[in-house]
Amino acid sequence: MLNRVNAAFPSLEYLTGMTFSDYYRTAVTSHPDLCDLLDEDAITGDRLDDYLRVMNSLSWEFEDLADGGRGAAYNVAQKVVGNRQQGMVALLKCFSPSFRDMPDADTKILDVLGGDGTIARFVHSLDGPRPTIFTADLSRFMVDACMRQGLPCVRQSATRSLFKDNSLDGVLIAYGSHHLADDDRQLAISEAYRTLKPGGRLVLHDFETGGETARWFEEVVHVYSRTGHPHPHFTRPEMWERFSAAGFRDVRVFDLNDPFTLPGATADEAVSNALMHMYHMYDLVKIANGSGDITNRVARCVEQTLGEIHVNKAEDDFVATIPRKALVAVGTKS
Ligand SMILES: C[S@@+](CC[C@H](N)C(=O)[O-])C[C@H]1O[C@@H](n2cnc3c(N)ncnc32)[C@H](O)[C@@H]1O
Repeated sequence: MLNRVNAAFPSLEYLTGMTFSDYYRTAVTSHPDLCDLLDEDAITGDRLDDYLRVMNSLSWEFEDLADGGRGAAYNVAQKVVGNRQQGMVALLKCFSPSFRDMPDADTKILDVLGGDGTIARFVHSLDGPRPTIFTADLSRFMVDACMRQGLPCVRQSATRSLFKDNSLDGVLIAYGSHHLADDDRQLAISEAYRTLKPGGRLVLHDFETGGETARWFEEVVHVYSRTGHPHPHFTRPEMWERFSAAGFRDVRVFDLNDPFTLPGATADEAVSNALMHMYHMYDLVKIANGSGDITNRVARCVEQTLGEIHVNKAEDDFVATIPRKALVAVGTKS
């Protein structure tokens, strides 16, 4: 573990009101297992100073309202931890040898676009075996929120990981991979390769260019969100080519059902919760003229792009499902 006393950390703000040194002092006490995996050369001295300047200049979309971002609304939506549970379970099982089992705590997975720890919180809610999730994100606002929850987390870009070579069992790049610009995608996949142990897996999740989910982003989110959404999605050949170029073997690319599922005490309440979830998650502030009109407008947009909303009776409540299909690539490091 890094000797904190002798380390020359930069003095710029890394998180709100915290230099990297302040962050590291907290993290090394509460999450020594995470700190053990950080690369000393990457986190000491001038290199981190420059890196912080770059991250601060790049990150805005998932920062706070004052920075023009939609991070606050996004995190309101993520309070329902199971809102994408079917897809999340399937993605996590991709890290098991059989693709069918939930990995256990010995499996250390870095959630590269982890936000305020949505997947880490979901994993904590599971009974039975569950992997160890480290959350990473570019956004200071998101990592501040992770720190407040006591989650093991780090602020970094997908394109420049602070983790050591060969240190992780799994890397997950999911729920936002389209936010990586064309030039950054290969860098992020190569960083995953570098930081994975031999035999470790990268799971990349996005939505297919030209599919229904891409239409939701182009025709609804880009038009009505506070931030717009000018981000191209992935194609299947692109996933294959990028994984092969990085050196991954046993590459698979497949469709995954990844619906939104929201509960309610009645069927109507479940549908309303699902629609308001979409409103907050994408911060669709331009979709309606008044609050009375929001659910109708969101419902029409959902049904015209993603498809019909279904409601099922569960044990104690009702669950509304908004269909969504994702595109996933999995590769193993040799
Ligand atoms: C749609 S959110 C997903 C958050 C969380 N995984 C979830 O599903 O709720 C995408 C996240 O990716 C982060 N992000 C965007 N570009 C990034 C980059 N280059 N490196 C690391 N994180 C990035 C954003 O700050 C944002 O928090």
